[in-house]
Amino acid sequence: MQLTEKILALKTPCYLYNLPLLRKTLQNVKEESGRYPAFHAHYAIKANANPVLLKVIREYGLGADCVSGNEVKRAVECGFPRDSIVYAGVGKSDEEILTALKEDIFCFNCESLPEIRVINGLAAQCSKKARIALRINPNVDAHTHHYITTGIEENKFGIYLCDLDQVLAELTALEHIELTGLHFHIGSQITDMGVFRSLCLKVNEIQQHLNHKGLRLPHINFGGGLGIDYNNPHAEPIADFASYFNTFARHFEPACPNQQVHFELGRSVVAHCGDLISRVLYVKEGKNKKFVILDAGMNDLLRPALYQAFHKIENISSRLPEEKYDVVGPICESSDCFGKEVSLRQTNRGDIIVIHSAGAYGETMASQYNLRNLPGSYFEGE
Ligand code: LLP
Repeated sequence: MQLTEKILALKTPCYLYNLPLLRKTLQNVKEESGRYPAFHAHYAIKANANPVLLKVIREYGLGADCVSGNEVKRAVECGFPRDSIVYAGVGKSDEEILTALKEDIFCFNCESLPEIRVINGLAAQCSKKARIALRINPNVDAHTHHYITTGIEENKFGIYLCDLDQVLAELTALEHIELTGLHFHIGSQITDMGVFRSLCLKVNEIQQHLNHKGLRLPHINFGGGLGIDYNNPHAEPIADFASYFNTFARHFEPACPNQQVHFELGRSVVAHCGDLISRVLYVKEGKNKKFVILDAGMNDLLRPALYQAFHKIENISSRLPEEKYDVVGPICESSDCFGKEVSLRQTNRGDIIVIHSAGAYGETMASQYNLRNLPGSYFEGE
């Protein structure tokens, strides 16, 4: 990335979003999913809920995947059609369910029988019928970080396969519920297409079981999870959507000819489109190492502290030879570290440091810990 007057003028720390890259990424999603008429891509708002990005994403015809009442409201405000909004989450509150019922969204992705009973009751109060999909925990290991693996049996997510028949039996008695599909999401940052193939094979098995019971549902939702290359943000700025959608087209067997297939992509749509821009406050000489202390901290970008996540870090102010530094933030926690032994061009106070691929789960996970300000956001190519 080039140091420009515009970047020098930014109030740091802040997120800088590359809208032309976002548009290119979305065009690719549209083309690759568009090869398969039954496929529908939704965008997982939790990855980045910035309204400027949401309005661009909406332009490319993606639906919205929400995990809170406020995300549902944000999706509607940013122009996502109500009938393209899905809403998941293990702990939907009554107020959130009522919001989604009022907005008449496409589908609730439900995670337990107690939740479905509550939705039934609230839908009855509103004289509505809630469309739901059952989120099934298929016990397929995503082989990713244990904090972002969601589809194995020890997770809190979804209905276990062994409970499926009992749930289906109970549903028939719930008059304000319409079962329209099944939902899956087995984890995030998955780059091995073999994992999605295993998911397809498991879903095929489940559908065969349902077929035997005479049940053919109109919708299947595979969730999100497509990973990106954090090591090479410049060489690989767009995720491999072609292989992703093709894997499902090849291995998933629809239960009926016009069964519709949904996806909820988050990270792969926005991650490379955002960088965290910060300034060096101090360079501190330790006993055996040097620390670069940034004005950005774990409150601005939590991923390295929470998941030991790797983000490529670059000093765009310096042309000096490289040295090794631990790059840290100003927060009173040892985990407030963006990278150890990072090779950076020789660094001085005031230099601009870019932390790449921070467009997903960066701004949305920012907090005011230590009573710091929330990072601002700026846009290139508006
Ligand atoms: N659908 C559901 C039901 C989800 O729970 C998620 C993400 C997605 C879709 C989108 O997944 P994606 O395409 O972004 O992988 N904060 C973590 C990631 C947590 C993912 C939570 N669920 C991180 O920074 O790596």
